[in-house]
Amino acid sequence: MTPRLPGPRPDPLAGPRPAPLPEFPSDFLWGVSASAFQVEGAATADGRGPSVWDAFTRRPGGIRDGTLAETACGHYERYREDVALMAGLGIGAYRFSVSWPRVLPDGHGPVNRAGLDFYDRLVDELCARGIAPAPTLFHWDTPLALEERGGWLNRDTAERFAAYASVVAERLADRVPMWITVNEPAEVTLLGYGIGEHAPGRRLLFDALPAAHHQLLAHGLGVQALRAAGAQRIGIAASHSPVWAAGDGEEDRAAAELYDLLANRMFADPVLTGSYPDEGMAAMMPGPVAEDLRTISAPLDWYGVNYYNPVRVGAPKRADTRAEGGSSYAGIRLPPELPFAMQEIEGYERTDFGWPVVPDGLRELLTGMHRRYGDRLPPLYVTENGCSYGDAPDPVTGRVADARRIAYHDGHLRALHRAMEEGVDVRGYFVWSILDNFEWAEGHRQRFGLVHVDYATLRRTPKDSYAWYRGVIRRGR
Ligand code: NOJ
Repeated sequence: MTPRLPGPRPDPLAGPRPAPLPEFPSDFLWGVSASAFQVEGAATADGRGPSVWDAFTRRPGGIRDGTLAETACGHYERYREDVALMAGLGIGAYRFSVSWPRVLPDGHGPVNRAGLDFYDRLVDELCARGIAPAPTLFHWDTPLALEERGGWLNRDTAERFAAYASVVAERLADRVPMWITVNEPAEVTLLGYGIGEHAPGRRLLFDALPAAHHQLLAHGLGVQALRAAGAQRIGIAASHSPVWAAGDGEEDRAAAELYDLLANRMFADPVLTGSYPDEGMAAMMPGPVAEDLRTISAPLDWYGVNYYNPVRVGAPKRADTRAEGGSSYAGIRLPPELPFAMQEIEGYERTDFGWPVVPDGLRELLTGMHRRYGDRLPPLYVTENGCSYGDAPDPVTGRVADARRIAYHDGHLRALHRAMEEGVDVRGYFVWSILDNFEWAEGHRQRFGLVHVDYATLRRTPKDSYAWYRGVIRRGR
């Protein structure tokens, strides 16, 4: 092992100092996010059942670097160390997720006490450190047993979700001040059921739409179940991106609009307005849609936005529609038969994931939602924002100098502040993520953490961005 000498205290702002951040309100909530499957590991401990992602990681070619998430960051055993790192940051809230198959190994039926106990311990540890626990109930790890019965294509999964939400809330609601029902139903629908890049790996294209409706229904039924169990401050975490048309022509505009409908409005409109953005889309949804929409649109206390970058979308070019063609973006290949194609955004820096760094996209997104939904928009939280950079500890000093991550968050916080000045009610910001972790189809190749994880030893090393974020939280700017 390379000896590590104690290095000089890292100064993350060494070099030309950027202008100080603008001041945020004193009650602005600073947080970090993570999710169960991405950090916990302990895949079979204490009676946990398998999830769709356990199965997907075993599929040949499912995960780009072949990583299984059996250990991930070992957070299940090391949660105290991780909460201590959070306390060192001075955050107000930790957004984590509860693993459904840990609590209900088959997705329904008897509760696995030992699994639920883990979240009880985690919540107690957070409370003892003065950090508000903000659990997400579904962050993609559907119990495999439910997937075998159709997963999110089956209405029954939404009902099972509500029963699971009750179990968790009855145990934790006395100490949890903020709840998230589901995370990014758009990704599960489009990547998981639409094009098969994520679990469960189905390639149904437009036949995937029922998976959107059932996750939205799960959200609505989940809100009812949470409220019935006394849960407070309930929201959702939805991914949203500004969609830029690749050109001014009618075809590019129509393609970009269709993409916006599918990736943004198919999820936000039902929750915020009680209807699908167009009748054709509503007609593709299963079940008593009008009645479901009343459940889905029950008033929320807040709405969470996960933002990473804008997307540029145009009509497919003729070359894209060849059998082997299709467009690709950030490692994701869109099939050629889709009526839109992704195009690279030129002229911006990129993260190590290849995603363009466009801080003003966050302002554009938030002000755009404010304009579109008006009074129907509850207070917002940015429930995720972050970037993948592969910076590793210096072999001599141990320091992880991730200046690009600092610049990313600095830029996005300025953009967020501008949106607030322009009248958008934003109450908090959660960095994705506290730790480097299992980045889905990318495995361990992408690192989003404020804290570096050595996957061989599970050693945690706070990066320069950790010290920087601590300073921001302390100063409120
Ligand atoms: C959104 C997802 O919620 C999270 O699980 C993922 O790791 C980040 N985006 C980064 O891709």
